[in-house]
Amino acid sequence: MFGLKSSDIGIDLGTCNTLIYIRGKGIVINEPSVVAVERGTKKVMAVGEDAKRMLYKTPGNIIAIRPMRDGVIADLESTEKMIRYFITKILPRYRFIKPRMVIGIPSCITEVEKRAVEESAYKAGARDVTVIEESLAAAIGADIPIFEPAGHMVCDIGGGTTEISVISLGGRVVTNAIRLGGDEFDEAIIKHVRSVHNLIIGEQTAERLKIEIGNASPDKTIEKVEIKGTDAITGLPRRLEIDSVEVREALKDPITQIIDEIKATLGQTPPELAADIVERGIVMTGGGSLLKGLPKLISKETGVPVILAEQPLDCVALGAGKYFEYARGIDNTRSIYDSLNG
Ligand SMILES: Nc1ncnc2c1ncn2[C@@H]1O[C@H](COP(=O)(O)OP(=O)(O)OP(=O)(O)O)[C@@H](O)[C@H]1O
Ligand SMILES: [Mg+2]
Repeated sequence: MFGLKSSDIGIDLGTCNTLIYIRGKGIVINEPSVVAVERGTKKVMAVGEDAKRMLYKTPGNIIAIRPMRDGVIADLESTEKMIRYFITKILPRYRFIKPRMVIGIPSCITEVEKRAVEESAYKAGARDVTVIEESLAAAIGADIPIFEPAGHMVCDIGGGTTEISVISLGGRVVTNAIRLGGDEFDEAIIKHVRSVHNLIIGEQTAERLKIEIGNASPDKTIEKVEIKGTDAITGLPRRLEIDSVEVREALKDPITQIIDEIKATLGQTPPELAADIVERGIVMTGGGSLLKGLPKLISKETGVPVILAEQPLDCVALGAGKYFEYARGIDNTRSIYDSLNG
């Protein structure tokens, strides 16, 4: 009665942000993956943006949780409550028509975690649940022509995970995923400030430093920002001015790990497809790819052009939402591809 087709929804269940895409409507939910629950009763007090405001600042009886942290379903119950909350928020009509859901999740999560996501989605009211790898969804969302008989590389750097895939003829040829992303960038900054300046800072301050003055590639202009934290020795609050050179130094380790993983993936790619990638470039998605100078550095280190997707933060949700339009093609071409390989 409302057009059954519109009951397909795509979800990017990220460790940092949850996005929901509905065909014909676009992105209808884009909120932090955070749930605030009452201690003891586990009653949900807030979800998303409202809950994030409580993170790190909660009074004793309320705890704010990031249920998807590090790609792990740390807390199944709150994951389910979070999905259910977002679904009911946008789709009161689904009291009558249960939606089909396509959910993008990192490929490094375990079978148990994958089943936990599926179960959460069914409990939240899905009629049918398809779980797909984040990088495949990202590739579809970034408008990469994945059905071409040519190699395409997509690198999605999220909050908790980085996933690199080579796709050809609608199927993944190589996929590598590591549990490392933008959150580790923040942690590296926290560690650096503590060990070099004896100053303890919070995750939000570290993230602000990363976004405001972080730069993976050396730059002529040096930017500075004033931060506040707690002195590790005196325990008193203190201000500190920190510059972009120092932030780059702090980020070296996690960035090197990501670049090593990209190099390893290129090394595992069949030569003909690698030749395509050299020509077409690596497409980057996910919030972590927005770190200034990162695409440039990856290009310099690998010798391959790097293209930042148009909406890096939206690609997985867009791709999950469009998955059904592609699904037939993915199955067909996969069998062609498989038969080509004997
Ligand atoms: N302009 C920016 N510069 C650097 N980092 C950024 C920027 N904007 C967002 N980020 C980082 O991107 C990360 C979130 O990205 P994203 O929303 O793609 O993750 P996610 O999909 O929730 O996580 P995952 O894919 O690992 O499950 C955070 O670490 C955030 O700090
Ligand atoms: Mg993601």
